[in-house]
Amino acid sequence: MALLDRFGRVHDYLRVSVTDRCDLRCAYCMPEEGIDWRDSTELLTFEEIERVVSIFVQQGVRKVRLTGGEPLIRPELPTLVAMLRKLPGLETIAITTNATHLARDASSLKRAGLDKITVSLDTLHPARFAAITHRDRFAEVWRGIEAAIAEGFLPLKLNVVLMARVNDDEVLDFVRLSCERPIIVRFIEFMPFKENGWSTTKLISYRDLLQQISREFTLQPVESSSRSDVAKEYTVNGGLGRIGFITSMTEDFCSTCNRMRLTADGAIKSCLHDGAEFSIRDLMRSGATQVEIENVIRRSLAGKQERHAGIDELYQIENRTMIQIGG
Ligand code: GTP
Ligand code: 5AD
Ligand code: SF4
Repeated sequence: MALLDRFGRVHDYLRVSVTDRCDLRCAYCMPEEGIDWRDSTELLTFEEIERVVSIFVQQGVRKVRLTGGEPLIRPELPTLVAMLRKLPGLETIAITTNATHLARDASSLKRAGLDKITVSLDTLHPARFAAITHRDRFAEVWRGIEAAIAEGFLPLKLNVVLMARVNDDEVLDFVRLSCERPIIVRFIEFMPFKENGWSTTKLISYRDLLQQISREFTLQPVESSSRSDVAKEYTVNGGLGRIGFITSMTEDFCSTCNRMRLTADGAIKSCLHDGAEFSIRDLMRSGATQVEIENVIRRSLAGKQERHAGIDELYQIENRTMIQIGG
């Protein structure tokens, strides 16, 4: 019973947000005036998350990525990883984190059975990090990255959201980092969300970037292991790591989309850029059966569009902010 939508796409990847809170304040992810934080009782408990994930896994989901906000803010996250690890059929458990707490948690996450870590980091300069995130925590993040590598989370993925005049002068430094360390540096095109300061003048297209990098380095495309991968990857000068491009804006990857999302407060979303959501939290709390929950998942999938709206519309769409969706 695969999770098929109207366009024949099989959904085997679930992104699970475990909290809407974060200890950093990146403007591209979170509106300046803050958001209406959910109370802890409004968040799914670990048991509730486990139940929903297990239903998704029975419907063919093979990979779960834990996101936030910042997932390691949620107390005892390794316990949730260990609970999910026991689900038969779930092959990969990953996390996307800002790494502020990764030095503390890397070894317990490993022991709990986490497979993969992706770290979000947009600059290699401590002062600029403080300017982008409004928090002076670069040193902790770097310790977190080192701890994850030492624990054997290899290759580690690094997500870099590129913004013109903010961090685009660091592209070659990030490429060098990918040569020297077992890191896949993924340059992400800046996406518009409500009130996140996006404009076309800040967008750096993957084509321009590829040209710029190719002038200095020898790039070799890497065959993707899954047709639903969002990053186009390259090896660089035979270095240790790789680079990748996530071209959400200039070449969307909707036609091979395999993702669904569960928000921290228990809503199912079938597309990052579509405000439509189906809450299952209260249904579960009032004793819903497995079939009832499956029906909500299928209703959400039935409404999934072929692709997201165009650039001009995306900015105005009624949708949650990035911090509430988890990317
Ligand atoms: P892996 O493929 O497992 O390495 O991870 P991922 O790329 O799916 O997840 P990650 O959290 O690292 O996200 C990388 C970037 O891709 C972020 O900017 C996300 O917002 C973006 N992204 C992830 N899923 C989608 C999606 O379904 N649609 C779009 N447009 N962007 C996405
Ligand atoms: N555009 C592109 N990527 C974004 N992320 C957060 N906000 C945006 C945006 N506006 C990235 C984060 C994180 C991932 C889940 O999404 O950097 O790595
Ligand atoms: Fe899938 Fe929507 Fe992302 Fe396109 S924008 S890849 S349809 S989640």
